[in-house]
Amino acid sequence: MSRVTNYLFHSEPANIEPAWNDILTPPRPKSCKTILVAGGAGFLGSHLCELLIRKGHRVVCIDNFSTGRPENVRHLRSSGAFTLLRHDVVDPIDLKVDEIYNLACPASPPHYQADPIHTTKTSVLGALNLLENAARYNARILQASTSEIYGDPNVHPQVESYWGNVNPFGPRSCYDEGKRCAETLFHDFSRIRGVEIKIVRIFNTYGPRMRPDDGRVISNFIVQALRDEDITIHGDGSQTRSFCFVDDLVDGFLSMMASPASLTGPINLGNPVEFTVAELAGQVLALTGSRSRIVHRPLPTDDPRQRRPDISLAMHELCWQPRVVLAEGLKRTIAYFEAVLAAEGRKLTEVA
Ligand SMILES: NC(=O)c1ccc[n+]([C@@H]2O[C@H](COP(=O)([O-])OP(=O)(O)OC[C@H]3O[C@@H](n4cnc5c(N)ncnc54)[C@H](O)[C@@H]3O)[C@@H](O)[C@H]2O)c1
Repeated sequence: MSRVTNYLFHSEPANIEPAWNDILTPPRPKSCKTILVAGGAGFLGSHLCELLIRKGHRVVCIDNFSTGRPENVRHLRSSGAFTLLRHDVVDPIDLKVDEIYNLACPASPPHYQADPIHTTKTSVLGALNLLENAARYNARILQASTSEIYGDPNVHPQVESYWGNVNPFGPRSCYDEGKRCAETLFHDFSRIRGVEIKIVRIFNTYGPRMRPDDGRVISNFIVQALRDEDITIHGDGSQTRSFCFVDDLVDGFLSMMASPASLTGPINLGNPVEFTVAELAGQVLALTGSRSRIVHRPLPTDDPRQRRPDISLAMHELCWQPRVVLAEGLKRTIAYFEAVLAAEGRKLTEVA
C-alpha cells in the first residue's frame, strides 16, 4: 500500500492575505471534519476546497496537476486547515478521513483526449482506490459524475433513470465509459461492502479558475472575445447547452454529501435553463463589447445536440436549485478572464 508522500504545502500562518484572513480562520466547530478532495486543485475542486474551509472543515487536497494548478488553492494556505499533496489517483492511497469527494479527472475534451488511456485509468482505478480508502476508514464518498453518462441523449431533458446513448469506442469514450464504470464501482461498493456513496451527475459548469486553454465553450468564447479573435461556433450554433455557475454547483455537492445515507444518487446537478450555442456567443459579445466576428467550423464527433438536466430529484431531495442567472455568472467569469489575460500581457511585456 503506497501512502501519499509528495507533500507540497501544509497551511502556513505567514503571508495572510487580508481579504482571506477572517474568512479562512474560523474557529473550528465541533462538527469539523477532515475531508479529502481528489482533484482539488482544478476548477471545481478549488471552489469546493474553499467552501469546505469556509464551513470550518480541514481539507486534504490531492492532485496530479495534469489540468489543475497549485495557484488555484494557494490562498487557502493561510487558513491553518489546508494540506496539498501531489498524488495520482491511479495509485493506491491510505489517508484517514471522514469524507471524500472524487473530482480527479480532466473534464474538457482536449485534455481528456490527450491521453485517453490515462483518462480511463483515472476514472476507473481512481474510483477503485478512493473507494477502498473509504471502506477502510468508514468514510462517506461522493463521485463527481457527469451528464456525459447520457451520451447523445434520446430523452430530453435528461432524467436520472435514462440509461444513455453512449458510443463505447469513440474519441469521447475514455471519459464517458470511464465515468460509467466508476458509477458501477460506487454502487457495487455500496451493495457489497456497505460504503456510504453519493453520486452527482454534473452538467456544464463554468466560472472563475477555468483555464484559458480549457477548450470548453464558455471559456473559448470569452477568451476569443476578450482577444477580439474570431468566435468559433461548431456547427450552425443551434445545438443547446445549459450552464450552471460554479458557486451553485458546489453548494449542491455539500447538500448531497449531507443528505440521508439512503440517498445514493445518481442525482443531476446543473442549470435547467437551456440556451443555443449561438445565443451564448451573442451574450458573450454583448457583455465584453468585443469586435470579434462569429465563424462556423464542423461539429466534432459524437457532439451531443441537446443537453438539459431534469433537476426535479435535486429540488425534491436536496431543496437545491441554481440561483445565478447566465448573464450574472458570465459577468463574473469575464472579470476573471480579463484579470488573467492582463497578467499574461504584463508577463509578455516584461519578457520583451
Ligand atoms: N466542469 C464541468 O462542467 C464538469 C461537468 C461534468 C463533470 N465534471 C467533473 O467534475 C470534476 C472536476 O472537473 P473540472 O471542471 O474542475 O476539471 P479540471 O480539469 O479543472 O479538474 C480536474 C482535476 O483533477 C486533477 N486530476 C486529473 N487526473 C488526475 C489523476 N489521475 N490523479 C489526481 N488528480 C487528477 C487535475 O489536475 C485537476 O486538478 C471532474 O471529475 C469532471 O469529470 C465537471
